[in-house]
Amino acid sequence: MKFETRCVHTGVYKDESYNSATTPIYPTSTFVWDAVDKNRGYDYTRSGNPTRRALEENITSLEGGIDCRCVATGMAAITTALQLFTPGDHIISGDDIYGGTFRLFHNVLSERGLEFTFVKMTDLDAVRAAVRPETKCIWIETPSNPLMNIIDMAAVAEIAKQAGAISIADNTFMSPYFQRPFEFGVDIIVHSMTKYLNGHSDVVGGCVVTRDEQLAERVNYLQNAMGMGCSPFDAWLVLRGIKTLAPRMQAHQRGATALAEMLHEHPAIERVYYPGLPSHPGHELAKKQMTGFGGMLSVDVKGGRAVAERLVTKTELFLLAESLGGTESLIEYPAEMSHASMTPAARLAAGIGENTVRISVGIEHPDDLIADMRQALEA
Ligand SMILES: Cc1ncc(COP(=O)(O)O)c(C=O)c1O
Repeated sequence: MKFETRCVHTGVYKDESYNSATTPIYPTSTFVWDAVDKNRGYDYTRSGNPTRRALEENITSLEGGIDCRCVATGMAAITTALQLFTPGDHIISGDDIYGGTFRLFHNVLSERGLEFTFVKMTDLDAVRAAVRPETKCIWIETPSNPLMNIIDMAAVAEIAKQAGAISIADNTFMSPYFQRPFEFGVDIIVHSMTKYLNGHSDVVGGCVVTRDEQLAERVNYLQNAMGMGCSPFDAWLVLRGIKTLAPRMQAHQRGATALAEMLHEHPAIERVYYPGLPSHPGHELAKKQMTGFGGMLSVDVKGGRAVAERLVTKTELFLLAESLGGTESLIEYPAEMSHASMTPAARLAAGIGENTVRISVGIEHPDDLIADMRQALEA
């Protein structure tokens, strides 16, 4: 079946009692056994739940993997994946990743014996140079957050393979509709389901998707052992959200393209970071490994911090809020919001400026978004 059809049908229909057309929510912590050696596939919701399983089957299919585990947040997904490693293991990561991921790596997991090297991942020589005998993982976020750098997934996955390491991709920004990292040799995919997968800004959630039996088994073990699983109600909301993933992603992209083109020409804007623009340094690579350019973009405004701060408070349709991937457009100031957990030095090294503004384009009509952005820039 085609992608759009799988969004709607895969994993749903778990109701054998009344044959409902949509998956019921099973809000139960525990399941009754028929005998001490017999249950009906579920025993306790931390380990597994039919609603959560329906969502996991759906996402497995969309990413082209063999298994998926849905957890409480995107950070829980990243934490689960990182538990595959033990003290002394070395991980290479891009330097302009989501601020919360940077904080987990740099502040939390470094203190527990994992070693990290942050590199400009668009520079494949820098990735190769960072490899050590203890390197166990290369962490890929593409497009990167917030500067929309495009990482060559096939090349980085190959560097990892040559080094005897695995590669993990955070596919939050594109969703499997526009990008499927397994097709480029990546070993594990994580998502913040909070964003495009759910798509309605009313859930936090995450998932870890695998395409290898051994890794799948280990991830399953870890999510249960650490108690990471998301609630049946949240799983149900995300499953509902995914049904419209394809048309939503098209609508996000339509608005983002129109907005990026307007901003590119606007005299108040110094630089636009949107991979759909031919002027973006990663445009050709994006065309190769993505089937669209998504709904996220960032800009550097002319005039520095004060101008950037004013812009984010002057829009009316673009709400001043962190997060992304919902139906409503959002605008935010990374230095104080999404990337405040990075040190100023790390932000500087990554190229995240005092004048950088990040925009998540919703599914509103592009004309209204452009009019709102114009009035805010003029204000
Ligand atoms: C690319 C990316 N990965 C992971 C996360 C973390 O997800 P959550 O907020 O659901 O924990 C975010 C959150 O903004 C993100 O943008």
